[in-house]
Amino acid sequence: SKGNHRHFMEKEIHEQPEVISHTLANYLDFAKGTVRTDATPLDFSKVDRIAASACGTAFYAGLIGKYWFERIARLPVDIDVASEFRYREMPLSKDSLALFVSQSGETADTLASLRYCKQQGLKIGTIVNVRESTMARESNTVFPTLAGPEVGVASTKAFTCQLAVLASLAVAAAKMRGTIDEQEERQLVRELSEIPRYANHALRLEEQMETISRDLSQVKHVLYLGRGTSYPLALEGALKLKEISYIHAEGYAAGELKHGPIALIDESMPVIVIAPYDHWFEKTVSNMQEVAARGGKIILITDEKGAAASTLNTMHTIVLPDMPEIIAPIIYALPIQMLAYHTAVFMGTDVDQPRNLAKSVTVE
Ligand code: F6R
Repeated sequence: SKGNHRHFMEKEIHEQPEVISHTLANYLDFAKGTVRTDATPLDFSKVDRIAASACGTAFYAGLIGKYWFERIARLPVDIDVASEFRYREMPLSKDSLALFVSQSGETADTLASLRYCKQQGLKIGTIVNVRESTMARESNTVFPTLAGPEVGVASTKAFTCQLAVLASLAVAAAKMRGTIDEQEERQLVRELSEIPRYANHALRLEEQMETISRDLSQVKHVLYLGRGTSYPLALEGALKLKEISYIHAEGYAAGELKHGPIALIDESMPVIVIAPYDHWFEKTVSNMQEVAARGGKIILITDEKGAAASTLNTMHTIVLPDMPEIIAPIIYALPIQMLAYHTAVFMGTDVDQPRNLAKSVTVE
């Protein structure tokens, strides 16, 4: 049931601190400050590459995972949407791990990609929420997300739990590949253990998200920008907004702005900039300046350090606490979900059952 929430989506957004905590506990031993090797029965030191594939929001989770695997574990990741992957006939090495991400475990294109990789003789690992699903059954290794049943068509808690698993796996892979030492492992595990606390903090920004959403419900187009791990989040923000509010939105890597989308900038299209104070921050700020110089209205999502460092006028600034870099994509997902949710509520759409969409896409 929805409890005292208006929609399942709202309920599922608010469940995140708890379900992420459950999910993390499956992969990390907080007391010891280590990854649980029993939860990762896969030797990442024998893997030379990851070939990953998924659809929609699960694909964006995988895209964030790519940044983590490559940076922390020095393990290259090829990732593509499953509808392309399955027909691409990419050359696959037997030492690659095929990795799939899916809430339902039934998505037709992702399942077809999985079967293709299996046929090629690859080991199959799947991050999946529904344990009894076809993908779970057909995988060599199942990495469960413990999000519980997700009812809202727009994925929220499954997404952040997928990210929690991917981050944990990246740390496990780094440990097995010797790219981090014990002290770094303990540090990363401690940082990941803080996600629920920061997520609760982010949820307390709900009133401000509602205020901003009132403005968003008045516009026709929204652009989301981000760099690094905030780039897939920009894609996810745009997807979430369009699928439930029916407002046209696009997500771009901030550095791509000058290669086209900057032509769209005017005072009628808000630009949502996702910019934690990380090593991409200064670059994103210079893109923000390009937007401001053309009369664009900026909604900045940042942290205390970022807010202090940016002197630009914004339409709204959403300030999260400063936090470790590895957890930022998970925490920043929350204001993004709340903005889409409240905008849709203002638009009066059917938030849990948006038109033309199904929870599980079992046809191609
Ligand atoms: C968006 C959304 C979809 C799914 C996609 C994959 O909010 O929910 O984009 O993420 O259809 O579904 P699963 O994860 O079940 O494979």
